[in-house]
Amino acid sequence: MAEHAEQAGNSAPDAGAPVMTASLDTSVRQFIAEVGADPTRLLDVALAVQKRFGFVSAEAIALITKRLGLHAVEVEDTVSFYAFLDRAPRGAFRIRLSKSPVSLMKGAASIAAAFEAALGISMGETTPDRKFTLQWTNDIGMADQEPAALINSTVMTDLTEADIPGIIAALRKRPGGEDPFPVKPTVRQSHLLAGPLLADPFTQGAAIRAALARSPDAVIEEITRSRLRGRGGAGFPTGMKWRFTRKSAGSDHIVVCNADEGEPGTFKDRVLLTDYADLVLDGMTVAGYALGGRQGIIYLRGEYTYLSEQLQANLQSRRANNLLGAGICGQAGFDFDIRIQLGAGAYICGEESSLLESLEGKRGAPRDRPPFPTEHGYLRQPTAIDNVETLACAARIMVNGADWFAGIGTKESTGSKLLSVAGDCARPGVYDVPFGITINELLDLVGAQDAAFVQNSGPSGQAVAPKDFGRQIAYEDLSTGGSTMIFNAGRDVIDIARQCMDFFVEESCGWCTPCRVGTTLLKQGMEKVVAGRATRTDLQALEAMAGTVSRMSRCGLGQMAPNPVLTTMRDFPEVYEARTRPELFVPTVSLQDALREAAAIRYPTPALAGA
Ligand SMILES: Cc1cc2nc3c(=O)[nH]c(=O)nc-3n(C[C@H](O)[C@H](O)[C@H](O)COP(=O)(O)O)c2cc1C
Ligand code: SF4
Repeated sequence: MAEHAEQAGNSAPDAGAPVMTASLDTSVRQFIAEVGADPTRLLDVALAVQKRFGFVSAEAIALITKRLGLHAVEVEDTVSFYAFLDRAPRGAFRIRLSKSPVSLMKGAASIAAAFEAALGISMGETTPDRKFTLQWTNDIGMADQEPAALINSTVMTDLTEADIPGIIAALRKRPGGEDPFPVKPTVRQSHLLAGPLLADPFTQGAAIRAALARSPDAVIEEITRSRLRGRGGAGFPTGMKWRFTRKSAGSDHIVVCNADEGEPGTFKDRVLLTDYADLVLDGMTVAGYALGGRQGIIYLRGEYTYLSEQLQANLQSRRANNLLGAGICGQAGFDFDIRIQLGAGAYICGEESSLLESLEGKRGAPRDRPPFPTEHGYLRQPTAIDNVETLACAARIMVNGADWFAGIGTKESTGSKLLSVAGDCARPGVYDVPFGITINELLDLVGAQDAAFVQNSGPSGQAVAPKDFGRQIAYEDLSTGGSTMIFNAGRDVIDIARQCMDFFVEESCGWCTPCRVGTTLLKQGMEKVVAGRATRTDLQALEAMAGTVSRMSRCGLGQMAPNPVLTTMRDFPEVYEARTRPELFVPTVSLQDALREAAAIRYPTPALAGA
């Protein structure tokens, strides 16, 4: 999915030597016991096998199939879908270098070359001793500190060419596996402009106590009055979502925190989960109370595995402080707990119905709707799926009240928005700014003097040209999930659009033809434009194809995938004009006229006329 196919030389599945078989069998039994032999926890079992053995062999699949009571096809289907699960052995150290637009502009190509030189292999290959696999991957949520790479589950950021020989030398001395290695300091604290959401200190449990002073219906009413809209991109009113979920019948009501954060350029949820987890976890517990639910699940993208330990510690301290578990804060009957579900490297799993499939251990393919998750979500129970930031907002609203929140921002977009800002600017980071801020004001804040365009809301959003820098970031104008990539005049807007198409091609789940085939055709079309080989006719065909993909695709990924093409064509026509070349063959003779002339010829004799 998100990664390039592996090269030959190491594709033989595990042959299953006797010793290996015994240890595999014991491990699979253990992993299955850890999830209570629940077949819907297949993804956890497969991830555990991957971590322990480096891949999920045919033998492992057979054991999992038998012990979880699934069909082999179901297990194969899941294992083959996710980028972080392998069917064949790879290097003990898996180096995944980010190729997001920001990473590439910050020099990822020369970092790749430095890795290739140090390892003696090319991108996509594994060293003969199976110690290292080197490959590109899509955005890993580090746009403020690119170039960045994942080495197994350790993130290395701000890479320079000079770092690479030292990193490889240090890794050569280690056996491999998942243990952290002190080769280079990892993720650093982001630059942060704390505003309405983040500036005030927050005490663990404050929002839960404030919620418990109200009835569940009154909590939903408070959220509704605040006019909070979902921060994941679509902007659906959160109060309404919670009300629908509460009203739906089910044996449980589930709260899911969507921490899949896969849109290239965004990293604000990473910062929230790192430094403001109490706001988010309080928000989830408030939602649990409002919905009358017992289970909360954080779907944490696989690239953020490094965060799971500190989140688990926070959950543990909450259990110890009676903020999770039975009778929360002494309230009889309020029983709620939260678990973490790790993702496995698939952008589509951020889409809420694919996320539910993934939570149930299946491949992340979108579901048909209706029924909506609020009615039939996780395990067919009513489920509210909320973005990380949405839940943090809900916690603040509980403490500060709906009027406070509704007094910030614009008429249709209340509160503040966390913007992940990266690219050509002096101060990349997270900006907690009231909705309504203009692009110009934002560029001043982040120190971007020469912006030639801003990619608002990532590849799924739009490229904003300088003529529109006076526009506001708000649902009623430029809406955004948070990704804000800035590019100065030296950058090629068409090439960035091509890179965005590359991303969608790799992340399409492949279920429907318009998206699976259409994104590839759009990418090829953009490659032609970038190479200066496209004509006006090609551009017209590209535009028509983009319209078809957006109209005919089954889910949001395919519907939004043509945006890089369509928005750059609309707002940067002069750049396309300068890139196109004249039609190769412009007919000067009309075929119809020529035929008319031929038909009019009068032959002198019947024999010559062919009569
Ligand atoms: C392809 C795709 C990827 C998405 N990725 C995310 C994501 O990473 N995080 C997120 O919160 N929402 C994501 N969404 C939106 C979710 O489907 C859903 O609208 C959101 O989680 C609802 O939460 P909210 O109402 O708080 O925004 C994605 C949607 C699509 C179509
Ligand atoms: S639009 Fe793309 S991602 Fe969505 S179902 Fe179709 S193929 Fe899958």
